Amino acid sequence: MTDDRDLALALLRWQVEMGADEAIGDVPVNRLAAPPAPPPQAAEPRAAAVPPVRTPQALPLEPVQESVSTARRIAQGCKSLEELRDALARFDLCPLRATATNLVLADGNPDSGLMFIGEAPGADEDRQGLPFVGASGKLLDRMLAAIGRDRTSAYITNTIFWRPPGNRTPTSLESELCVPFLERHIELVRPKLLVLLGKQAATVVLESAEGITRLRGKWKTYARNSLDLPVMPTYHPAYLLRNPPAKREAWRDFLDVRNRLESISSV
Ligand code: URA
Repeated sequence: MTDDRDLALALLRWQVEMGADEAIGDVPVNRLAAPPAPPPQAAEPRAAAVPPVRTPQALPLEPVQESVSTARRIAQGCKSLEELRDALARFDLCPLRATATNLVLADGNPDSGLMFIGEAPGADEDRQGLPFVGASGKLLDRMLAAIGRDRTSAYITNTIFWRPPGNRTPTSLESELCVPFLERHIELVRPKLLVLLGKQAATVVLESAEGITRLRGKWKTYARNSLDLPVMPTYHPAYLLRNPPAKREAWRDFLDVRNRLESISSV
C-alpha cells in the first residue's frame, strides 16, 4: 500500500518537474479500463429514435446570447469598482472560473489616468490574483519605469478575468462573456488614455480584425458608453520577450503615450 502511494507521489512529482501545472479534469480517467459496451439497439423504428435535427449554430446560440445578456445586465448594475469585483467573484457563467484558482481583475491606481489592458492571466497571475506579475509583468514594469511610471501611477487589467487552462487563447465565448465587465470596468475607471497590449486586447477593445503588427503605434479612439478616449495598441510584453528586436517599436509607442498624457494633462 505504502509502495503504491510512494510510487503515485513520485509520478506526480515527476509530472510537476516536467512542467505539468494543472489537472485537466475533475474526475480521474482510467485509460486502461475496457471501453464501455455499446448502447442497446432502440426498439422503436429508426425514424422515431433520431432526435430532431438542429444546425450547429442553433444549438449553442440561445444559451450563449442569454448568458452574454445576463453578463451585460450584471455589469451595468455595478456602480463602483468594488461592486464590479464582487459581481465577477459571483459570476459563474464563464467556464474559465471553474478551472481558475483566483479571479484576476486589476492592479495599480485607477485614478492614474493611464489604463493598460492585456489578454488573460497566466499561471503566476492565477496564483496571486493579480495581473502581470510573472515574466511579462516584470517587463511591463520596466517599460512603465522607462516612461516614469509604476503601479502607483498606472492601472492594469486584462480582457479575461480567469486564467485559460494551459494559457491557451481565450475562446470567443469566454471573451464575449467578459466583454460586458471589461466595458463597465473602463467606464468606471474613466482613464485619460488606454494602452492595449497585444492582439487579443486590440481585437476586443477596438472590435478590429487587423493584426497587432498593423495596428500598433497608431492612435485609435474608444468611443463607447459616452467615453471618447485615445487608445494606443502596442505589442504584448510576452511577444517582446520572444522577439526582443520589437522592443524598439514598443519603446516608441510608450514614448507616444507619455507625450500624449503630458499634452492631455497640460490642457
Ligand atoms: N499576460 C497577460 O496578458 N495578462 C497577464 O495578466 C499576464 C500575462
